[in-house]
Amino acid sequence: MEDGPKTPRSDNRDGRSHHDPLLNKKYFSKFRTIKKLGEGSFGKFYKAEYNNEYFALKFENRTKGQSLLENEATIMTYLKGPNIPLIKSFGYSGEYNILVMQLMDRSLEDIFNKRKKFSVKTTCMLGYQMVNVLQYIHDRHIIHRDIKPDNFVMGANENNAHLYLLDFGLAKKYRSSRTLVQYPLIKKKKLTGTARYASIHALEELEQSRRDDLESVGYVLMYFLRGGLPWQGLKIKSKEDRYKKILAKKKETSSEELCKGFPDEFREFVEYTRNLEYTEQPDYEMLRNKFVNLVTKKNGENFDYIYDWTTESDLKKRKDETIDLAPSTNYPVSEKKSTQKEMESVNSKKKANPVHPPVSKANNSEHVEGNNNNVNNNNNNNNNIIIDGTKENNNYGFQSKCCTIF
Ligand SMILES: Nc1ncnc2c1ncn2[C@@H]1O[C@H](COP(=O)(O)OP(=O)(O)O)[C@@H](O)[C@H]1O
Ligand SMILES: [Mg+2]
Repeated sequence: MEDGPKTPRSDNRDGRSHHDPLLNKKYFSKFRTIKKLGEGSFGKFYKAEYNNEYFALKFENRTKGQSLLENEATIMTYLKGPNIPLIKSFGYSGEYNILVMQLMDRSLEDIFNKRKKFSVKTTCMLGYQMVNVLQYIHDRHIIHRDIKPDNFVMGANENNAHLYLLDFGLAKKYRSSRTLVQYPLIKKKKLTGTARYASIHALEELEQSRRDDLESVGYVLMYFLRGGLPWQGLKIKSKEDRYKKILAKKKETSSEELCKGFPDEFREFVEYTRNLEYTEQPDYEMLRNKFVNLVTKKNGENFDYIYDWTTESDLKKRKDETIDLAPSTNYPVSEKKSTQKEMESVNSKKKANPVHPPVSKANNSEHVEGNNNNVNNNNNNNNNIIIDGTKENNNYGFQSKCCTIF
């Protein structure tokens, strides 16, 4: 994984290229691609239209081996909830796997690149929602493992107050959903995530858990406040050297030094998350309270989701009930029972819907999940899930599966 943002995804922002074979095509008999939004190491992104509604289509080349997109589709479908883009469909067409999801607005990295810094108030309102969404996924036994500004996007139109977490390609279960026992702390072979925001333990290639997602939030927030992080721009010879240097610099940068000149709450956040144990249940509520108290009690401002970039027109689009003006510090924690039920439904669906087949050169067929007609069952990957970029036996409760939700 790269340190920092990937290649800009804007090679064709106007989307009018006549040579783009993916553009202006209908996928799954519904979604017509109308504009290329970008391209990354992962694949291509398009805006699509169906029934006067807009969607985001993420394309992944199926010829490249294991599918991160399939892992993403499975996990996002299972997680379905506030602050996670809604998955509409997942399937394949020709040489691409395609994930259809709710269309969002700009990422925090895009906004940051324009503004260079965020205010304390904006950073707190973002931090609050980051802790919320992480608690939501952690309660459902999932860790994200690639928390960074590019993977948070603002909602579009009436949802412009809300922050959403995306890019679940590297996400995975960290504990048994039945016993809640965490998987063992093992030494991995490589870093999973993005070096700039990765926790110290992740850079030491240790198995990640809830603490690592939260530690990354601390680095993301300090990146916004300071306008950068001390381990950016180090002189580096190779990829391995870069990881080593970033780790060394992170270790020698104390929370005091990192947060110097900013309210104590940020130093406390970084310190707390750095000191969490592997299996420790983080105190999400205490962390959220820090942000609310800093904005409202200490700085006497409103916690109103009016960000540095919010315009009058954004405010007009918001529905009154979409914003909780006095955020509750008692975020509803998922119950074990319902989580278990949801997990079972993820597992049982899989049996009826085999995984989409591997691509063959002559294969121009299209398959939407849930429709088995086109499925080539030559592969036996049905019981696999992508973990750290390799296929391992699925003893984690997830299944590679197909699903049409739309
Ligand atoms: N549903 C969406 N709506 C709008 N933009 C999106 C959506 N999903 C992703 N993006 C944009 O595309 C970028 C890359 O998407 P992401 O899922 O993070 O893929 P990658 O694996 O290439 O990082 C994001 O940083 C964001 O700017
Ligand atoms: Mg991403």
